Amino acid sequence: MTTTLSVIGVGYLGAVHAAAMAELGHDVIGLDIDAERVAALQAGVPPFHEPGFEQILARGLASGRLRFTTDYAELAHAEVHFLGLGTPQREDGFGADLSHLESAVDALAEVLPARGGAPTLVAGKSTVPAGTARRLADRLAHLDGVHLLWNPEFLREGFAVQDTLDPDRLVYGVHDPEDTAARQAVAMLDAVYARILEREAPRLVMGYEAAELVKVSANAFLATKISFINAVAEMCEVTGADVTDVSRAIGMDDRIGAKFLRAGVGFGGGCLPKDIRAFRASAEEHGVPEALGFLREVDAINDRRRARVVDLAGELLGDLEGRRITVLGAAFKPHSDDTRDSPALDVATRLRAAGAEVTVTDPQALENTRRRLGELVTLERDTDRALAGAELTVLLTEWDEYRDLDPARAAALVAAPRMIDGRNVLDPRQWQGAGWEIRSLGRAPAPGAQENPAAQGESAQGAPGQGAAGQGA
Ligand code: UDX
Repeated sequence: MTTTLSVIGVGYLGAVHAAAMAELGHDVIGLDIDAERVAALQAGVPPFHEPGFEQILARGLASGRLRFTTDYAELAHAEVHFLGLGTPQREDGFGADLSHLESAVDALAEVLPARGGAPTLVAGKSTVPAGTARRLADRLAHLDGVHLLWNPEFLREGFAVQDTLDPDRLVYGVHDPEDTAARQAVAMLDAVYARILEREAPRLVMGYEAAELVKVSANAFLATKISFINAVAEMCEVTGADVTDVSRAIGMDDRIGAKFLRAGVGFGGGCLPKDIRAFRASAEEHGVPEALGFLREVDAINDRRRARVVDLAGELLGDLEGRRITVLGAAFKPHSDDTRDSPALDVATRLRAAGAEVTVTDPQALENTRRRLGELVTLERDTDRALAGAELTVLLTEWDEYRDLDPARAAALVAAPRMIDGRNVLDPRQWQGAGWEIRSLGRAPAPGAQENPAAQGESAQGAPGQGAAGQGA
């Protein structure tokens, strides 16, 4: 069954959702107040790098089932409206800025009377603090036939299309699961997602607040898991253990699980950092700051990893003033051009602040890097050219082309073969064998390999703390 629907706010989440809904066979209109973005999408030009998105966007546009507008009046007759607006960190603090969401709901409310009371569903997808849905529902309460449902989105960048069309679960938050109007809202969303539900995706109906909390607690859990292993990495650095050994072994316990246990320079992106802060702010607003106080630690551990890379650079180079450092990677993770709160760019900025001449390379994210850092660092798309002349190379985003670098070839390009592997993706022995001095996060410096027991003894001793700078951050 085809539903006429809108997606309001076609940023990352909304644009993917709109194209994915057209892919499911619905008639979709995407709205954004950003005319440039709307024009680009209407022309089939993706405003971000996301595997598979360009194809479903093109298919939707060509079929006539997908179009974009800046005009709310064009939404008046749609049966279902998805809210895909961003909830950025508030400038005045660490809570979520809900103003985009609120203005969108108010603008939508103006055109909804055109439905003449026919059942209309508004489905929120944005990540919001608990209590938001109920407040937004109040803003729509004067309209007959309009139901608000909260349907959080769990997509990962780089897998956004797949995660939207084949989700692990669907979560529906309603004002009261027993209520008839809520049942009608659930049925309307079921009709939209019929093809996803056919594939047996679990679908859970719960109250608004639970649905809102599912999303923020899932992200907080993931961030906590990463910071947990990064805290263990700090222990590994002072005891001489290798965090990849610890991570592999504990991940084999089904109760723990191997995912999100990769130690390194930590998490970034448009979601995890802001979501854990907004979650804490929400706990404070509800009068239980202690409930989520540990998330402050999660954030602090994450920050210490970035500082640790700068300390390691100091250990390898001494004074950083005027030294040539090449940073491999700018995106917050591979398969993305997103540089929001990217650990790589934060570290690049810190190295620059310490006086280093920094060159950043990345296969997708250089344009966003230029927007974010301006002239602060040198940008170079070509990996070989970026490596040329480097006195230190720092791998901070684990793109395949950096994982697969040939250490002997790379050694011939750089001025000095020194490497910090901020993602634990290089084989230290192999790199050391090719003449590199290599340091990783959460792993003692590669011993001078087994053939050199003297060096091994030295590094086992040298590992703990690695001097005052090693304790830094
Ligand atoms: C995240 C959630 O995974 C997703 O469900 C939610 O909808 C949005 O936020 P995303 O921001 O796309 O998705 O990135 P994710 O793949 O979760 O990675 C987040 C960060 O954690 C990246 O910087 C990544 O490099 C880092 N990370 C991830 C680690 O440092 N170690 C790990 O083991 C896993």
